[in-house]
Amino acid sequence: MTSLADIRSTFLDFFARQGHEVVASSPLVPRNDPTLMFTNSGMVQFKNVFTGLETRPYRRATTAQKCVRAGGKHNDLDNVGYTARHHTFFEMLGNFSFGDYFKEAAIPFAWELLTRDFAIPPDRLLVTVFHTDDEAAAIWKKVAGLPDERIIRIPTSDNFWMMGPTGPCGPCTEIFYDHGPAIWGGPPGSPEEDGDRFIEIWNLVFMQFEQAEDGSRTDLPRPSIDTGMGLERIGALLQGKHDNYDTDLLRSLIEASAHATSTDPDGPGRIHHRVIADHLRSTSFLIADGVMPSNEGRGYVLRRIMRRAMRHAAMLGARDPVMHRLVPALVRGMGAAYPELVRGEALIADTLRREETRFRETLDRGLRLLDEELARLPEGAPLPGEAAFRLYSTYGFPLDLTQDALREKGRTVDIAGFEAAMEEEKTRARASWSGSGEARDAAVWFDLAARLGATEFLGYETERAEGQVLALVRDGIPVDALEEGETGWAVANQTPFYAEAGGQVGDTGWLRPLSDHGAEIVVEDTQKFAEGRLIAHRVRVARGTLRTGEAVALEVDRPRRAAIRANHSATHLLNEALRRALGEHVAQRGSLNAPDRLRFDFTHGKALTPEELSAVEEEVNAFIRQNSPVETRVMTPDEARALGAQALFGEKYGDEVRVVSMGSAPGSGKGPDGATYSIELCGGTHVARTGDIGAFVLLGDSASSAGVRRVEALTGQAALRHLREQDRRLQEAAAALKVPVPELVDRVRVLAEERRALQNELAQLRRQMALGGGGTPPRQREVRGVAFRAQVLSGVRGRDLPALIDGMKAEMGSGAILLIADDGGKAAVAAGVTDDLVGRLSAVDLVRAAVAELGGRGGGGRPDMAQGGASSAAKADAAIRAAETVIEGVTA
Ligand code: ALA
Repeated sequence: MTSLADIRSTFLDFFARQGHEVVASSPLVPRNDPTLMFTNSGMVQFKNVFTGLETRPYRRATTAQKCVRAGGKHNDLDNVGYTARHHTFFEMLGNFSFGDYFKEAAIPFAWELLTRDFAIPPDRLLVTVFHTDDEAAAIWKKVAGLPDERIIRIPTSDNFWMMGPTGPCGPCTEIFYDHGPAIWGGPPGSPEEDGDRFIEIWNLVFMQFEQAEDGSRTDLPRPSIDTGMGLERIGALLQGKHDNYDTDLLRSLIEASAHATSTDPDGPGRIHHRVIADHLRSTSFLIADGVMPSNEGRGYVLRRIMRRAMRHAAMLGARDPVMHRLVPALVRGMGAAYPELVRGEALIADTLRREETRFRETLDRGLRLLDEELARLPEGAPLPGEAAFRLYSTYGFPLDLTQDALREKGRTVDIAGFEAAMEEEKTRARASWSGSGEARDAAVWFDLAARLGATEFLGYETERAEGQVLALVRDGIPVDALEEGETGWAVANQTPFYAEAGGQVGDTGWLRPLSDHGAEIVVEDTQKFAEGRLIAHRVRVARGTLRTGEAVALEVDRPRRAAIRANHSATHLLNEALRRALGEHVAQRGSLNAPDRLRFDFTHGKALTPEELSAVEEEVNAFIRQNSPVETRVMTPDEARALGAQALFGEKYGDEVRVVSMGSAPGSGKGPDGATYSIELCGGTHVARTGDIGAFVLLGDSASSAGVRRVEALTGQAALRHLREQDRRLQEAAAALKVPVPELVDRVRVLAEERRALQNELAQLRRQMALGGGGTPPRQREVRGVAFRAQVLSGVRGRDLPALIDGMKAEMGSGAILLIADDGGKAAVAAGVTDDLVGRLSAVDLVRAAVAELGGRGGGGRPDMAQGGASSAAKADAAIRAAETVIEGVTA
């Protein structure tokens, strides 16, 4: 039997031989489309190549593209499990020409692959063409030799393919397989076409136009080709099956489901297994591409699919969560073709397990409520919308899950009633918002949030995406446009821009209108409004106009974001390193993650020692070098605490938190295996691996407030630049001192020592100079038996006087001294009395008398040594006489 994996590679190999580049599947969350919820066909990643906006180094490509059709425009969710060919996840095989070959080559390629490589009997095949496309009909006739009745002209949109309301489009030709008269159904275009006899297997689109928003079409730069063949369908055909779920890959998942629930794969639980097999694929691939279950947007579609599968698992009688146990079977079947499954395996299993555990807590009660409601209703009556809403709000039953549960009982839901109840709830919630006048809580933002729904954040996965501008706000008022020179807030349906939160600064970057009318819009900041539901870009229109409703490319300033990411991840490592170095009392009190640096405040009573600082710095760097992956999970706060997550004290968390783990540290006791280094609740953006941080340099610590220390640090490029700058300064200092760097410290020590010695010497010299230098010569005479020396000095500073007095005292043995330093502008006075005279005579009195005479005031010190000052030494003689009078008075 040909496996799906073989068919996939046969297809890709065939087109590779025909000069096509084999291009990897793009992610399920499109980055190059403003409104598409999920990638729904192979051409999505090439959209801009068709229109000429983007060029690639090849003009022919082939892909196996993962696609999800659930939620949004193409929604197959409701039918999945019950039919042979509906899926929420499927693979589309395609070949593409970007202005290279056209119909004349696309049709022969398809015919050759189907009839030769896949060996499908030609007489089982028939085709449709758009009714006016004579050219395609003629090529089919020539290449395949098909008779006219097997080239069916279809006038409807079935044979005109469009990706969505706008974008590349064109007429198409579809190839059908005839399962034969044993199965009911008619050829395409016939009244019986919905039967199962004629199955479409391949759609070849002749891309020729681009449709604008107003419905008008312009020619593409060059006619191109886009084809799509569902792998599951062609697989069923080549494996001789009529049902996609009987193909090898899906069958293996059905069997895994049967095995995990100990039930019969083909027994009464058959439908459940099919639902589980399909939903396992879509949910796993979505998680691998970064979507996490949530209550809004893409995350909500994921949750709906997950919960639908989980209810079917419960219906099989499984007591414990089932879905996560099937992940290994999926990875075995598809991991080789899609390595993201292998990389994401643990995350996928973990997310499924948590969701199923949580959902099971309310599933039974919700189903009981549903039964009670139904018992009360007349036979066959639809479930009132209000009851469906209660199931949704209290038990987490998405509407389609309730519908699915009712379908088995042949019942429906009053959808209008459900929507009315939902609307009422929103109105109630809005009423409780109003009041606060603060900008962030202003009613305008809540009104917008209620009208537009939450902004979808794409920034964990990408830094560039397309979106649609849903609202513009200038000076607190919604406006239709922002003109050149104006500044305001712009809200889009989705954005890769991170809004400031949890210490991480808001992203900056650019909005580029896709219609390319030359506008230049700079994003200067990003903030959250309306309790975090809206992400708003603070924009400045540098050129042109920005309008609501416009599709734009949203581009984050990447280098800046990369630096912020490195700083944020380093902060987590730092937090843990500090706790290990200083003790468990260390708790985060605040942080800043900016592009140029990080700052971290934490509880700790004293300054860090140099040893502590270097231990912390080394530990952080060791985990950077470990280069272990950084993992993100979504779970309940209790689960997070059980894993040992660090949470911010006093912070309010919702029922779901994002948990960021990094570093492998056996024995840490944290994480599922007790070997995780850092686990924190965090909504920020992080590096993929710790090695991406590059390097970490602590700049030291300081006191932030009582009992709180603050450290600042640098990472990556900034750390390196800092070190280089330090090094440059060292080199400069060494050059200035003319020593090699290793000798610099010794040299500086020696210099400091020399400087101290020189200072002493200088003071000594000054004193000597004073005694023998300028001023008056010393005058000494006996005053009532006391030796009294007085002298006016110039070129001496007041602070040198006490040392001079000490010297003179020693010289005199016994006596009193008065020195007046004449500094031109001012005078310093000092007096000394030898110890033998202290008690009779006080230096303080001598100074005060002299100072008063000089026109100053006060003076003070001890009885043996006192000092004072005045503004001039002009009356020095009178001052000396005043001092003598004091001596005379005292000794009389
Ligand atoms: N884009 C075309 C489709 O999805 C091939 O059918």
